Amino acid sequence: MRYDFDKPIDRRGTASIKWDYSKRFTGLEELLPLWVADMDFPSCNEVTEALKRRAEHGIFGYTLESESYFQAVIDWMQHRHQWEIRRGWMVAAPGVVPSLNLSILAYSQPGDGVIIQPPVYYPFKESILNNERRVVENPLRLEGNRYTMDLDQLEEAIDERTRLLVLCSPHNPVARVWNRQELEQLVQICRQRRIIILSDEIHHDLILEGHRHTPAASLSEEAAAVTVTLTSATKTFNLAGLSCSLVITSDKDLRETYRDTQKRVCSGIANAFSTAAAEAGYRHGEGWLQQVLEYIQGNYRFLVAFLGQRLPGARVIPLEGTYLAWIDFRALGLSDEQLKERILKKARVWLDDGPMFGTGGEGFQRINLACPRSTLEQALEAMVQVLG
Ligand SMILES: Cc1ncc(COP(=O)(O)O)c(C=O)c1O
Repeated sequence: MRYDFDKPIDRRGTASIKWDYSKRFTGLEELLPLWVADMDFPSCNEVTEALKRRAEHGIFGYTLESESYFQAVIDWMQHRHQWEIRRGWMVAAPGVVPSLNLSILAYSQPGDGVIIQPPVYYPFKESILNNERRVVENPLRLEGNRYTMDLDQLEEAIDERTRLLVLCSPHNPVARVWNRQELEQLVQICRQRRIIILSDEIHHDLILEGHRHTPAASLSEEAAAVTVTLTSATKTFNLAGLSCSLVITSDKDLRETYRDTQKRVCSGIANAFSTAAAEAGYRHGEGWLQQVLEYIQGNYRFLVAFLGQRLPGARVIPLEGTYLAWIDFRALGLSDEQLKERILKKARVWLDDGPMFGTGGEGFQRINLACPRSTLEQALEAMVQVLG
């Protein structure tokens, strides 16, 4: 069936972080929100039907992930990512950020170094600091319009107490889909220096035309031996409010260490709704996902054309993956405070402020393109009025 993503749906009154909590987060009301990474689109019909069926049963007792859920994940990874995984490699977890914190606890000690590649999804840094580990920065390099990893700096940054590297693949917010060669080089350094890669691949299905996601653990047996993959159906099918994820590693020791840590902190009980929804998405949602990707591609083209004509000082970094576009406003000559003040307070548009993503975020803003085109247009029109 064809979905109509042009049709705005009012999310107010659903306790949506994006639409209902602007006062709490910003002190302001009546903002147009294009920040947090969820979609303003309904999930596919089969997901909603699976949730209704589960709700109609009426009994919501203790639940475990079903074997058919795990099989749906195995089939999806094989079919979409040519990654062969086994049932025994997976540990069900309550969310990618929780499992990131748990992995840091599992694989390092207080004071150990954990590498991140800023600008990057801000909970990475928080999860290191929350657990009293040390943030080791390996900032991405921006050359022209393209971000790359600085592997020379990485080698220098690693010391004898560096244990982990948190990889964001595809990368939020710079929207790169790391290619095979880049990942192979990264894995080689991590293997040599005994660094475990925590590969956050939550955006793995949100890949735009001409790009291809490579699961880090699928590169080789050597790569798999040092990689713990954190993944979820929640970004793919817009289920973030249902909270569920998976930790996948073929390495038995890594898996057992993670499992032991999680057991100490979490209940081990599954959320009956989230796994039903995720399974339905994996089994029946591919057509819906294809339409979402086409729509996001269209929004990205619209964004580039609009800013190109109306605000040439703003430069959009090419969107290879995710639905989060990274915009460089530095040519406007405004401070971060001025940029934020104008966009948030004057235009009343709520974006994610570049400096939140750490080193290299200054002068940038992140905009969420998973919304009806009319919402995007309204936001851009308001921004151009205060920045043009
Ligand atoms: C890179 C990345 N990891 C993790 C998450 C959130 O994962 P979860 O909701 O499963 O904790 C997000 C959400 O935006 C993200 O962009």
